[in-house]
Amino acid sequence: MTITLPVKVGLLFSETGATGKAEAALRFGALMAIEEINEAGGIDGRELMAVCYDPCSEPFRYGQLAERLIVDDGVKVIFGCYMSSTRKVVIPVVERRNALLFYATLYEGFEFSNNVIYSGAAPNQNSVQLADYMTSVYGPRVYMIGSDYIYPHESNRIMSELVLQYSGGACVEERYVRLDAAGGDFKTIMDEIWQQRPDFIFSTVVGDATRHLYRAYADAGFSPHEMPIASLTTSEVEIAQMGAGVAEGHISSSPYFQSINTAVNRDCLRRFHQRFGGVAVPNAGWEAAYCQMHLFANAMRQCGSDDIDVLMPTLRGSQFCAPQGVVKIDPHNHHTCVYPRIGRANAQGQYTIVRESLGPVTPDPYLISHCLGNWMRESTAPDT
Ligand code: ACM
Repeated sequence: MTITLPVKVGLLFSETGATGKAEAALRFGALMAIEEINEAGGIDGRELMAVCYDPCSEPFRYGQLAERLIVDDGVKVIFGCYMSSTRKVVIPVVERRNALLFYATLYEGFEFSNNVIYSGAAPNQNSVQLADYMTSVYGPRVYMIGSDYIYPHESNRIMSELVLQYSGGACVEERYVRLDAAGGDFKTIMDEIWQQRPDFIFSTVVGDATRHLYRAYADAGFSPHEMPIASLTTSEVEIAQMGAGVAEGHISSSPYFQSINTAVNRDCLRRFHQRFGGVAVPNAGWEAAYCQMHLFANAMRQCGSDDIDVLMPTLRGSQFCAPQGVVKIDPHNHHTCVYPRIGRANAQGQYTIVRESLGPVTPDPYLISHCLGNWMRESTAPDT
């Protein structure tokens, strides 16, 4: 009798700590895809087996656990990380061990690794469009608030340059808070916003602190119709935490919103709710993690190995019919072609899509030749 060994994949998403809720979305996107792949016969009869660890939102633990997955568990492919600080710790591990990291979160760009596939939006796929939208609809003066780590600092630097480029505008102030910031931490910031009176706020606050920021904004008596918070990191997950009433009217830029009105998306959401109920809230990270697992399985079926040296040539240029539209891994930079969209949070805790791309935008992680081109049109999506 021949024994068919499963294909182990590592899942390195926090279940606890500041980004535990955000990372639950990614974890369950990956787990849903694993179930679908196994129900369809696995990879040539071999089931995918998830080996999951909880790094507790602590960057150093991601590095330790990535090492453990590769060395002790014999895993060659890891799906994981959320904050850029965690990815930066895992990259030297996968490079040293010649393993592969699938990273599904939007990030600040200006990075390439032979050992990483990036499927979240790069700045030319979310920041560029957000800068154009916010400065043309609200005005050129922006106040920036971020969590104090690499992504917010870099994302704010890029946004400052884009606001200048698209409107001649500027960042009037830039403030940073701890990852575990709570209500009181935002009080003086709100006082300063009253004095500065910017046209909009750009938030790069991540994780649980996000709901405290939006609550402090509401308590300070500001109006999202006059001076909204714009963000790349606030999604349906954070809206569920803060409540639809607090989020309503604020803006996010993302390739995926639950409200995308296509059969592929509606069907994917229906299957998720049937199987996983309320364990996690689908958002862009959920969708990207789901797609990455299918892209991996399809590539492994084709090339017959989960060894990075065999797998990577097959992954480069590969496509998947995703809930956001057909996505493709750019063969040159390992990032993904995605569909920029701007959403306004509505009273139902969902995003009304107010602008969206005519087609996928090629990733340009180093912002070498980015341009608005004809990327957007007013959306015809209903205001639900
Ligand atoms: C992030 O840290 N890439 C959200």
